[in-house]
Amino acid sequence: MSSLALKAVKHAVFDAYGTLFDVHSAASRHQQRLGEKAQAVSSLWRTKQLEYTWLRSLMQRYVNFGQVTQDALDYALESHGIHDGSLRQDLMNAYQQLSCYPEVPDTLGKLRQHGLGTAILSNGSFEMLEAGVRNSSLEELLDGVFSVETIRMFKPDPQVYQLAVDQLGCDPQEILFFSSNAWDVSGSATFGFQAVWVNRFGQAPERLPGNPVLEIKTLDDVLEYFPADWS
Ligand code: LAC
Repeated sequence: MSSLALKAVKHAVFDAYGTLFDVHSAASRHQQRLGEKAQAVSSLWRTKQLEYTWLRSLMQRYVNFGQVTQDALDYALESHGIHDGSLRQDLMNAYQQLSCYPEVPDTLGKLRQHGLGTAILSNGSFEMLEAGVRNSSLEELLDGVFSVETIRMFKPDPQVYQLAVDQLGCDPQEILFFSSNAWDVSGSATFGFQAVWVNRFGQAPERLPGNPVLEIKTLDDVLEYFPADWS
């Protein structure tokens, strides 16, 4: 664990999928139709989605996150022997309307009251991110939404983290970056952000460079590090 330098922090920047938005809420919404395969499909969908982002970055064959998400879903459905065009479409539509985790709106609001700027930095396309933000009514709680679509490169390429620095006009250590994805924590900490690992699922730490300044379970846990009079 690296040490938290709270006084330096100007912006709270958030990973979107898995951190603000519950990626498994899409399959949960269609639990009945997926039956006992629901959890396995959802989990393979997410795993393949991430793998395809890494592989496409390495191959320099960018397509946007919507396409990657569709491809990953197709792989997951076929792997589980599900051939149902309307379910496929409904799952993709549900991904545009993911639920945010329950503590998200309140935590964003309180961090802003402490004087921090708030933004998303995500692999998601602008269209997907805007739909997610709208669906959870987070528009008024976020100062910015930054998408890798601008640079056509996925996390954890350092250019992605540089995008937030460029957009915010600040130093990397002035960004407190939250992600539930340990590999994203690693990438952002290596870049120079103060990274907070939202370890929602009690995962073991990755054996990768770059340490978080904090490990918390849900986003609101960060609030205890801010004294009431902090700004
Ligand atoms: C994102 C993925 C990594 O939102 O969850 O960037």
